[in-house]
Amino acid sequence: MGLARTLLRIGVALCIASAARADDYVGQETCVGCHGAVSHAYASTVHGRALTAAAATTALMERGCESCHGPGRAHAMSGGRVQQAEGWLTFREDTPEAETLKSQACLQCHQGSTQRFWHGSAHESRGLSCSSCHTVMQPVSQRHLLSRPTEAEVCSQCHHLAGAQSRRTSHMPTRTTGGGPGAEGFMTCASCHNAHGSVAESLIDAHTINDSCTSCHAEKRGPFLWEHAPVSESCLGCHVAHGSIKPNLLRISAPRLCQTCHVQVLHVSEARAPGSRFVAGQSCMSCHSQVHGSNHPSGAFLTR
Ligand code: HEC
Ligand code: HEC
Ligand code: HEC
Ligand code: HEC
Ligand code: HEC
Ligand code: HEC
Ligand code: HEC
Ligand code: HEC
Ligand code: HEC
Ligand code: HEC
Repeated sequence: MGLARTLLRIGVALCIASAARADDYVGQETCVGCHGAVSHAYASTVHGRALTAAAATTALMERGCESCHGPGRAHAMSGGRVQQAEGWLTFREDTPEAETLKSQACLQCHQGSTQRFWHGSAHESRGLSCSSCHTVMQPVSQRHLLSRPTEAEVCSQCHHLAGAQSRRTSHMPTRTTGGGPGAEGFMTCASCHNAHGSVAESLIDAHTINDSCTSCHAEKRGPFLWEHAPVSESCLGCHVAHGSIKPNLLRISAPRLCQTCHVQVLHVSEARAPGSRFVAGQSCMSCHSQVHGSNHPSGAFLTR
């Protein structure tokens, strides 16, 4: 009895799965007929221009609205009352399974480029879908169909700390908000992160954190004749990535920064002499100016 019912269910499922035939699709004009306002806004987006019979380069693209929403015959023929049918997606569903289906709809066309590490990424595994960050039915941002006008606003919805850190006195120039006062616009969160997934920790868009930093700060990459061991290990040994209340994005100020690793006896840096005139002002760096490494023949002590 139980077995028969299971077999029946599998049979039904197979029928439905193979049932998305060409005539389950009604074509974009039919949708536009009932969804005029939505379709008007959509027409000015990248997809509105690319997913038309004229511009399409694949059969899927030619389906227009239905390339994302799935075959819409049941929905259209019911005058919009049917909201649930096999393969039909309104993007309003919000169960964990629905998030996967929503992303799959997009991945049909977008899986080769920066999305290739989406599967298993921090965002996918925490139940986000493409539409957590993208709005496709109307242009909200200037580029990339983001769900907020700027990228920092998209990310800061969920990541308050990173957003707040980028407001500190020393920070990466990520402030973009609306081009208003203080807008810098030199870089975005995506200058260092790939929100879709990456091979490195913390969604860093490079093989390692140092590779990311030195892709812009190339002079810190080395190789140096005289390396400073912690620099090639990780820039984050001394710097905070997003922002700090200390100058130069430093974790803590020198001399304490240096003294966390160096407690030299009989040296100006000796911790028991905090008032020493040698550690005032620029501190250790007034003599050890080449903290990132030196190429000077006699730069062994990073002083030149
Ligand atoms: C690229 C994929 C894609 C295409 C193509 C697409 N949609 Fe959507 N649609 C979505 C997503 C995702 C949502 C959820 C809201 C959002 O992200 O903008 C949505 C939401 C909607 C909604 C709900 C109202 C709203 O704005 O939230 C309607 C109605 C709709 N789409 C109709 C259409 C019609 C009509 C077309 C064709 C003219 C179309 N869609 C083409 C992905 C798509
Ligand atoms: C005969 C008119 C009609 C046609 C044709 C039609 N729809 Fe609808 N659609 C409706 C109505 C009515 C609703 C319910 C609207 C509501 O609840 O706000 C609806 C709801 C939707 C929703 C869910 C919106 C929401 O806010 O939950 C989506 C997405 C959608 N339609 C997409 C499409 C697409 C894509 C097509 C073409 C395959 C299409 N519709 C064809 C009338 C139609
Ligand atoms: C049928 C194929 C197809 C589907 C499905 C599709 N897209 Fe696209 N998408 C395109 C094409 C074509 C472009 C044009 C840019 C290009 O050449 O890649 C594009 C561009 C984009 C862009 C870049 C916009 C810009 O301004 O640079 C984003 C973001 C995007 N799609 C997100 C999505 C999301 C999110 C979904 C799912 C809701 C989705 N796409 C579903 C084909 C598709
Ligand atoms: C956590 C937020 C977030 C999620 C989730 C997300 N994106 Fe993006 N996406 C972005 C941001 C930010 C950009 C702009 C990147 C840049 O500035 O280079 C972008 C850019 C894009 C682009 C245009 C640039 C390119 O790589 O071709 C496409 C296409 C795209 N996303 C598709 C998707 C698809 C498909 C999914 C779901 C599998 C998805 N995105 C999920 C944030 C997100
Ligand atoms: C809808 C909420 C949401 C949005 C929007 C969002 N994220 Fe996330 N993000 C998360 C969640 C949830 C996690 C997982 C946190 C955890 O596991 O502690 C996460 C994790 C991360 C991580 C850490 C990954 C790791 O491996 O530790 C980074 C980096 C990140 N997000 C960057 C971004 C960027 C950049 C954007 C904007 C393009 C963005 N996020 C937008 C929810 C979001
Ligand atoms: C200069 C490169 C850079 C930029 C720009 C950047 N990040 Fe990061 N981000 C990093 C690095 C490196 C880490 C790893 C930090 C660690 O391991 O201590 C990180 C970690 C994170 C994390 C994981 C949690 C944490 O704080 O350790 C989140 C979330 C995050 N970044 C979000 C953002 C957001 C949102 C933006 C844009 C406002 C942004 N990042 C801009 C480099 C950057
Ligand atoms: C996309 C390019 C880019 C990447 C990647 C990048 N930076 Fe920067 N960084 C900049 C720019 C631009 C400035 C501002 C320079 C200026 O104001 O003259 C800056 C400034 C700094 C400063 C000085 C801040 C201050 O307050 O004066 C430090 C320190 C720094 N970056 C460290 C890092 C570290 C560590 C990483 C890796 C986590 C990193 N950068 C990744 C572009 C980048
Ligand atoms: C041992 C600690 C330490 C490590 C590790 C470190 N830095 Fe620094 N960095 C400093 C100090 C200290 C300053 C301030 C220098 C000064 O005041 O003369 C600084 C300043 C900077 C500046 C701004 C001033 C300038 O010289 O351009 C940048 C950019 C920078 N570091 C990038 C990096 C990058 C990229 C890495 C990783 C490859 C890194 N740092 C690793 C200690 C460190
Ligand atoms: C995370 C730990 C760490 C921090 C922080 C650190 N260093 Fe170093 N430093 C090292 C290590 C490890 C070496 C290599 C020691 C060796 O080869 O014996 C080194 C080497 C040196 C040397 C060369 C000495 C030698 O014997 O080769 C000088 C000078 C130096 N550091 C100065 C500084 C200054 C100045 C700061 C603060 C800006 C600093 N260090 C911060 C770990 C650190
Ligand atoms: C007044 C200049 C000056 C200041 C300030 C200074 N140093 Fe030095 N330091 C030197 C010189 C010169 C050497 C080369 C070795 C020597 O002659 O003793 C050196 C050597 C070192 C060495 C290598 C010692 C060894 O025997 O291998 C370390 C580590 C070091 N300094 C760390 C620091 C730290 C940490 C600070 C800040 C707390 C600091 N120095 C401040 C001038 C200075």
